[in-house]
Amino acid sequence: MQAVIFCGIQASGKSTFYKEHFFNTHVRISLDLLRTRNRENLLLEACLSTQMRFVVDNTNPTAAERQKYIGLAKAARYEVVGYFFETSVKEALVRNSRRSGRFVVPDKGVFGTLKRLQKPALAEGFDVLYLVRLQQDGSYIIKQVEPETGHRFPDSADGPDGSEPEV
Ligand SMILES: Nc1ncnc2c1ncn2[C@@H]1O[C@H](COP(=O)(O)OP(=O)(O)OP(=O)(O)O)[C@@H](O)[C@H]1O
Ligand SMILES: [Mg+2]
Repeated sequence: MQAVIFCGIQASGKSTFYKEHFFNTHVRISLDLLRTRNRENLLLEACLSTQMRFVVDNTNPTAAERQKYIGLAKAARYEVVGYFFETSVKEALVRNSRRSGRFVVPDKGVFGTLKRLQKPALAEGFDVLYLVRLQQDGSYIIKQVEPETGHRFPDSADGPDGSEPEV
C-alpha cells in the first residue's frame, strides 16, 4: 500500500499535481479541505486501518511535520513516497497571484512557509523521494532522489541542451 507525502510552499503546484496523477487512485488528505487536525487525524486513521492509498497534500515544510505521516504509514506497513515541489518563491508568488478568490494566499504566508522549509531527505524514512519542478508550459520535470546525489537537479548531465523528459 502506498502513502504519498507532498512538501512544498504554497502555489508550488501540489494540488494540481494530485489532480493529474493521483485523483483516481489516492484519497486526498488536505488541511485546506479538512480545516482541522482532528478531521485530518480521523481521515488518516480511516485510510490506514482500511489500507487505502492516500496523498497528504499539505505544505509539510518541516521534517517533524512529515515524520508524523511517515511514522504512522510505516507502522501500517505502507510504502512511503515523498514529492518535494521545488520552486522559486518568485514563481510561486506569480502563480499565487493568478489564483482566484479564496485560493489566493497572503504573500507573507508563502514567505513564512519558505522560512520554515526543511528540504525532505530520504533519511527521514521515505522509501522513494522525488523532486518535482513545474515548467512554464504546464508540464513537470520529475527526478528521483538517489541516496548519493541529494536534493539538487543535475545541471548539465541530462543532455546537450539540458533537456529532461517531460511528464
Ligand atoms: N505545471 C503548472 N504550470 C503552470 N501553472 C501551474 C502548474 N501547476 C499548477 N499551476 C498553477 O499554479 C497555481 C498553484 O497551483 P496549486 O494550487 O496546485 O499549488 P499548491 O502547491 O497546491 O498550493 P497550496 O499549498 O496553496 O495549496 C494554480 O493557479 C495552478 O493553476
Ligand atoms: Mg493545494
